[in-house]
Amino acid sequence: MDLEQREISAETITPYFERYFGHKPTVVAASPGRVNLIGEHTDYNNGFVLPMALNNINVVAVAPSPTGKHRWIGSLGDTMIEIDPADASKPGEPFWSNYVRGVICMLGRRGVQVPPVDMLIDSNVPRGGGLSSSAAFEVATCTALAAFCGADISPTDRALIGQATEHEFVNVPCGIMDQFISANGRKDHALMLDCKDLSYKLIPMTDPNVSVLVIDSAVKHSLADGGYAARRKNCEDACAILGVPSLREATLEMLEEKKAELGDLCYRRARHVIGENLRVASFAEAVQQGDWESAGIAMRGSHASLKDDFEVSCAEVDKLVSLADEIPSASAVYGARMTGGGFGGCIVALVKSDSVEQVAKEMLEAYRKELGIETTYLVTRPGEGARVLYKA
Ligand code: GLA
Repeated sequence: MDLEQREISAETITPYFERYFGHKPTVVAASPGRVNLIGEHTDYNNGFVLPMALNNINVVAVAPSPTGKHRWIGSLGDTMIEIDPADASKPGEPFWSNYVRGVICMLGRRGVQVPPVDMLIDSNVPRGGGLSSSAAFEVATCTALAAFCGADISPTDRALIGQATEHEFVNVPCGIMDQFISANGRKDHALMLDCKDLSYKLIPMTDPNVSVLVIDSAVKHSLADGGYAARRKNCEDACAILGVPSLREATLEMLEEKKAELGDLCYRRARHVIGENLRVASFAEAVQQGDWESAGIAMRGSHASLKDDFEVSCAEVDKLVSLADEIPSASAVYGARMTGGGFGGCIVALVKSDSVEQVAKEMLEAYRKELGIETTYLVTRPGEGARVLYKA
């Protein structure tokens, strides 16, 4: 994965679209990837998350297809696939087409029939590194197709369409966080989402003295998929023992009462989720007060809990997080933690802006020296959520 990315926009995708299809797109839409600042593995427990949208986006350009068939190109340089309209809302090959098929199916369930389209996709969201390139793809596709059909589908509904696509067409049992922030993100704001009722609060992140630093661990462990589903199952088991509909309703007191019954594993899984919800609240409060030290403490607590109680980190990611405390410029780092589903992927850190490039440089050097792994980083600010870039 490479975190240093080229610029993409309606202007960059249009000439490619014309070259491939011989006519112009009538709609171009975009939706971003995300980095989660805090609130990990809480979304599918009806809890709280606090992500922000990236400036890295997935761009989808569409126009009516003159052939009576769908013609889709997965990314620049890909070959074109042709799909019969009758098959476009069913799972199929190639695998990536399921993201589009799923969205077409979910729009259909809402009474929106997508006619055959020519479609070209481009993205500068790094793939496979836990920055939600898939959510960006789903929400961008949904935003483009809804605009193309003149259908009014709210951002939250577009997020739900993306999530249902993951569940039914991609076989990933994800929560709602990634699609939600991709659809509802706002420039210069993080977003605190209550996953129980999907109400949310935008939290300004405009302090020029604080930057968000994302560093890729450059590892992706293969146990990831099974590991995620297994964690969900542990949480469900804990709920059954605690007698609550979701871990959102559980408290640390309840947990202590049922400690023996829960057993060590479920006890620790539930302790992570309950504690993480509390940390999201204190992080949100701290950011609103400009109290970056306290925000950093919540991030450190989150990482420790994900590592020891939820067990979704890995040696490389732990190394990056501990390096943030060990490099010469460590005093410029407020806090660092793994971000996303885990088992590899990226870390996120809040860093004093005047030192952020130096911190990144020292982190990469130390990581290479200690683990022999070359990697990349991104210094970023909260970007804008899904939007139509162009409509003829
Ligand atoms: C993945 C999922 C999200 C969320 C995170 C963990 O990114 O897609 O729904 O569960 O993992 O916080």
